[in-house]
Amino acid sequence: MTRVSWQATELTVGELSDRSGVPPSALRFYERQGLINSRRTAGNQRRYSRDTLRRVAFVRASQRVGIPLATIREVLSLLPEERTPTRQDWARVSECWRDDLNARIKQLEHLRDRLTDCIGCGCLSIDVCTLANPQDALGEQGPGARRLLPPAPVSPSAAAARLIADSTGAHDGAARSGATADGTERATECEVCNI
Ligand code: FES
Repeated sequence: MTRVSWQATELTVGELSDRSGVPPSALRFYERQGLINSRRTAGNQRRYSRDTLRRVAFVRASQRVGIPLATIREVLSLLPEERTPTRQDWARVSECWRDDLNARIKQLEHLRDRLTDCIGCGCLSIDVCTLANPQDALGEQGPGARRLLPPAPVSPSAAAARLIADSTGAHDGAARSGATADGTERATECEVCNI
């Protein structure tokens, strides 16, 4: 693997791949999907600004927790394309991501804590099913594992739309400063890439 110079402000697709750990084919796919952008040289080669590393890291981390690419693209559209995103730009992304991630965390905790109990799936195969779901009473509520159902879905799309609308100038100061409602600073600094 080639070590990418920390001084390089633009990366080839190979360099972006080496530093991000994402295959070039996946990077080209991300570009086709509008998740990252490049400019073309006179010889028609791609060049990515260095901050693309952070976008790629964001995409990968989001995919790992099961967020669809369309949603990721929508949230990334909050970032400026004509310049390197600032902490304030990333704070806006973080703002609309927070509720969705909290909901996903709750869902995973629910799954972790419930798997040894009856989950109301209709199988009646666990010894506690007779108590928790006698004669599959939960089946009357609808399909699926009734006791595992996630809380009401949060829509990052709606949050993104609100922030896009607010980006016309009316967005509140808390999001711009990266501060949370309780006054603490939200993490917007890099732990994965090196911009
Ligand atoms: S675990 Fe399936 S109905 Fe109880």
